[in-house]
Amino acid sequence: MVAELRRGINLAGMFDRRDDRPGWRAGADELAAIADGGFTAVRVPVRWWGRADELLGPVGDLVEQASRHRLAVVLTMHHADAVYEDPDGTAAPLATLWRRIAAHFAGAPGVLAFELLNEPRMPMTAAHWNALLPMVLAAVREVDPMRPVIAGGADASTLTGLLSLELPSDDHLVATLHYYAPFRFTHQGAAWEAGSEAWVGTRWGTRSDRAAVTADLQRAAEWARRQRVPLYVGEFGALGTADQDSRVRWTSWVRHELDRLSLPWAYWDFATDFGAYDLDRRAWRHELLKALTG
Ligand code: BGC
Repeated sequence: MVAELRRGINLAGMFDRRDDRPGWRAGADELAAIADGGFTAVRVPVRWWGRADELLGPVGDLVEQASRHRLAVVLTMHHADAVYEDPDGTAAPLATLWRRIAAHFAGAPGVLAFELLNEPRMPMTAAHWNALLPMVLAAVREVDPMRPVIAGGADASTLTGLLSLELPSDDHLVATLHYYAPFRFTHQGAAWEAGSEAWVGTRWGTRSDRAAVTADLQRAAEWARRQRVPLYVGEFGALGTADQDSRVRWTSWVRHELDRLSLPWAYWDFATDFGAYDLDRRAWRHELLKALTG
């Protein structure tokens, strides 16, 4: 499973929009571009909460199409804000939702994994999440005992969160890390991060910048080795507001270190504000593609 996830890209903006406007839809052209670009997998962020009736069909179509392009798929549970706000009160509905999704995809073609909750975050603490995770996993296991299931730590699946993650014993569980460091570099000018305008112009690429990335990723890999769990870096990327040279250097170094540590990964993202691909021109941003799969 982890081998199939080796080189992935996030299909953001299709099913994870926070507003109810329809997202864009990847078709055969985009999936072919991804496979031809050297990727082996897509991670698909989905805002399922309250929308399973509407989304099971279209997400199912995408899973099927991806399998035709031999792309493994990770489906996430994105932007389930109710869960972060009230983990106890939402444990049962979250379990029900996952049981339904797992049942729907039990016979899905190709390689498919589920990520139980994207970036668990405050007010949900690590303790809350560590208690909720086994309940949600059990719901998936009732209908699909062998499906690969992915879980990140609290604190938005950062390294700090990973170190606090307590995983139930399960032979098909994969831990995940989201890597956006230094955050002032990767998220400079992010519309949703208060104060991030002031970070615009932050560059990246000194020797000590590189050493810091290496230290973080090695720490994550060591944690996973000690826990005897595979680790998947399901998001990393830098916004298009960063200068292109720094962005390419950062992407290339993170990818280099992930490959050196044999950690499968997925770049954030294909074609939105971190995009490695330009949907209007129907073309890759070549330097970024080279940094990822060259
Ligand atoms: C969030 C996106 C955000 C990205 C980078 C994702 O997990 O869902 O909204 O753009 O992380 O911060």
